[in-house]
Amino acid sequence: MLDFNIIEQLDRIATPFYYYDMDLFHKTVDHVAELASAHNIKVHYAIKANVEKRLLEYISSKGFGADCVSGNEVMHAHGCGFPADKIVYAGVGKSDKEIYNALKLGIEAFNCESLQEIFVINEMAHHYGVKASISVRINPDIDAHTHKYVTTGLYENKFGISQHEFDKLIEIIHKSEHIDFFGLHFHIGSQITRVNEVFALECQRVNEVVKYFEDNGVTIKNINLGGGLGVDYDDPDGTPIADFKTWFETISNNIARRPDQMVHVEPGRSLVAQCGTLISRVLFVKSGETKNFLIMDAGMNDLIRPALYGAYHKIENLSAQMRTFFPTHQAYDIVGPVCESSDVWGAGRLLPLSVRGDLMAIRSAGAYGQVMASRYNMKDLAPSVFSDRLDDAPEVVDYFA
Ligand code: LLP
Repeated sequence: MLDFNIIEQLDRIATPFYYYDMDLFHKTVDHVAELASAHNIKVHYAIKANVEKRLLEYISSKGFGADCVSGNEVMHAHGCGFPADKIVYAGVGKSDKEIYNALKLGIEAFNCESLQEIFVINEMAHHYGVKASISVRINPDIDAHTHKYVTTGLYENKFGISQHEFDKLIEIIHKSEHIDFFGLHFHIGSQITRVNEVFALECQRVNEVVKYFEDNGVTIKNINLGGGLGVDYDDPDGTPIADFKTWFETISNNIARRPDQMVHVEPGRSLVAQCGTLISRVLFVKSGETKNFLIMDAGMNDLIRPALYGAYHKIENLSAQMRTFFPTHQAYDIVGPVCESSDVWGAGRLLPLSVRGDLMAIRSAGAYGQVMASRYNMKDLAPSVFSDRLDDAPEVVDYFA
């Protein structure tokens, strides 16, 4: 829940916008930095979750690396302070142009997702007279017990190289003269909430794979376990910081590592989800035949997760909190303005009596929010507003003045 003083200030800003609580963001990142150093684990922030420059600059200043999935992400990460040798680059489909640019930059490692990709990178490195540092992404066939659209570690998924190609892969690693072999990469899915169970299982599978490679003459110096730590969408105030402690402990307790082996992780969502809130306003209240609609000025173009995954985001009426009388509650279907029936923020949500102009908070929107926004219906993109720079935000315009 935002405090009254902030709500008053937010009420003066033109909606919709993404509000970032910089205190919470800094606390989250600092907490992870401490744990990572205590566990001797390297953190690469998965920048796909949020590419806001200010956030990236802080994360890079803490010594974290970046996990990228496109050539543009690689360049952006570099521009926001991540040194080239701390940038890893995954993705099943890297274009020649993207490979070329990353090679030229000299990134820490390409996380290769197919045998053919290794061939192409080896060839290009040869062509330009350089060595390419590569890891191979393994598909460990593990169920992350999360939404099927964000499950990546099963054989039915397109990601990584699976067991039936291990022997061929090992042969290619031995033969490719223009690559430096960096290590193994895994990432089994996102929004994982059964932290201990799922990540312990991942580590056990990783131990087996590492052993197989080492038994076949490939020394594994780096083990990258990917990201996936879930956040509490139901209660963002109760759990403002994800359970990094359990995550790091589970990894330390279950990964079989030698002192010369480095373990890496790639959190995205868990670093940025809870510090971000999409602030919107009620445009109209409509009484339908069977339900009441609250029509907001933010829609699926601003945050597509509910429409795409049926994702839950907590919604609060901030203006109602400011009213002095005790409000009655009512069930609303909260919807956006976009011409799609899936543009629904939440159906049958119980909220205090809401009226036109009320300021609404769509919580836990810092990850996969702004980055997945589109200009569908030619809507404007919602800007970022930072808690420590509220004066820079665009002011609301009163068209009745
Ligand atoms: N590493 C790799 C290789 C990844 O593909 C991802 C996310 C991560 C790390 C970071 O995972 P995280 O810590 O954020 O769970 N748009 C979806 C999430 C897609 C995640 C894609 N990969 C959503 O809104 O739920």
